[in-house]
Amino acid sequence: MATPPAILCIASYEKGHDFLRQCKESGARVFLLTSLSLQHKAAWPVEAIDNIFYMPDDNHVWNRDHTLYAVAHLCRDNVIDLIVPLDDFDLEMAAFLRAHLRIGGMGESTTRHFRDKLAMRIQAEEVGLSIPDFVPILNHQRVNEFLHRVPPPWVLKPRLLAGAIGIQKVHTRERAWELIHALGDQQSFHLLERFVAGDICHVDSIVYENELMFAVASEYGRPPLDVSHSGDIFTASLCLRGSEREKLLLAKNSRVLAGLGLLRGVSHTEFIIAHEDGKVYFLETSARVGGAHIADLIEAATGVNMWREWAKVELAGGKTAYQAPPARNDYAGLLVSLAKQQWPDLSAYDDPEIVWRMQREHHAGLIVRSPVHARVVELMQRYKDRFRQDFWAVLPPQSKPTH
Ligand SMILES: Nc1ncnc2c1ncn2[C@@H]1O[C@H](COP(=O)(O)OP(=O)(O)O)[C@@H](O)[C@H]1O
Ligand SMILES: [Mg+2]
Repeated sequence: MATPPAILCIASYEKGHDFLRQCKESGARVFLLTSLSLQHKAAWPVEAIDNIFYMPDDNHVWNRDHTLYAVAHLCRDNVIDLIVPLDDFDLEMAAFLRAHLRIGGMGESTTRHFRDKLAMRIQAEEVGLSIPDFVPILNHQRVNEFLHRVPPPWVLKPRLLAGAIGIQKVHTRERAWELIHALGDQQSFHLLERFVAGDICHVDSIVYENELMFAVASEYGRPPLDVSHSGDIFTASLCLRGSEREKLLLAKNSRVLAGLGLLRGVSHTEFIIAHEDGKVYFLETSARVGGAHIADLIEAATGVNMWREWAKVELAGGKTAYQAPPARNDYAGLLVSLAKQQWPDLSAYDDPEIVWRMQREHHAGLIVRSPVHARVVELMQRYKDRFRQDFWAVLPPQSKPTH
């Protein structure tokens, strides 16, 4: 029998338990490289991991050279076949290691398309997708031209962060320059773009050999930026199948993935459907499973576990066939709120449609499932109001990049 493939998973944050489990169950040898600061905190599925290694980290950031030395050391006694980043922030490190160790998988320039908000915009524009007008914070004259040409409001956003962290809505040119100057040497790591008021939607996909094997279109309730700024309840739910909205999103999504060059893997891609004219704007993409329990939402509705499918796709590696599992056509909705109680009591939420409950201190969350779209919408609306009364707590938004 051939030697089982060895996979090195890079995880600066605790992510992807099911990915690790699937790798093990598929017969791979599983190595995990993770942050030292997680050593006594993370509950990794140890039964699925052959060896776990820790990198000293500065708030989850690793030293590149030291990581390279550590992995090269591992390679002295082991042949590594695959390197897979489990968190968005690990994509560059994985690509850098692959490039040095000459291991296949997504290279450094494609990685840029799925990580760097500037690179993905430039590429999306090149392949003819609509995107909100933008300018990199590089040449000040161009920034100035942008501020005169494009009407406010704008958003100033970091190129490499996630979860709406550091994004600021700006209404005047004076304020824009104030914020830009305050960024100092970090300016080039930001971009400025037109704020397009609209519904924020997402499509979660599985791709194999450039072919879209599975894609589900969903929409957030209030835009994530509003939720993070006002501390509202975060919601997401699947779009009505066969609706105009779903068709538009799926069509745009396949253009994004083809245009940005995803060969195999999973993607969480976001769009804005503008209130003004209904036009679909590409907002951002990634080569990872959607965060914030989106994977649980997709699994509740379809039975497809994105983490496990991603592992299968990586292990198939273009050498053997991959087929997405048959998907259920149910609908599901997700609600998450910060809770003022340490362990909020959700026992009064007892509709049979509830299929998942969040277990996290100071959080209340659940997922509802129904074969009927309207029933999900109705439950979501009702629960949103009840969550507000029962649990809701407001925290200030996460750190801004300017102070
Ligand atoms: N150009 C824009 N117009 C309107 N809202 C935006 C725009 N850019 C970002 N946002 C808001 O900020 C949120 C986060 O932006 P996004 O680009 O998706 O970055 P992140 O990686 O932090 O999710 C979006 O979900 C949306 O609510
Ligand atoms: Mg986003």
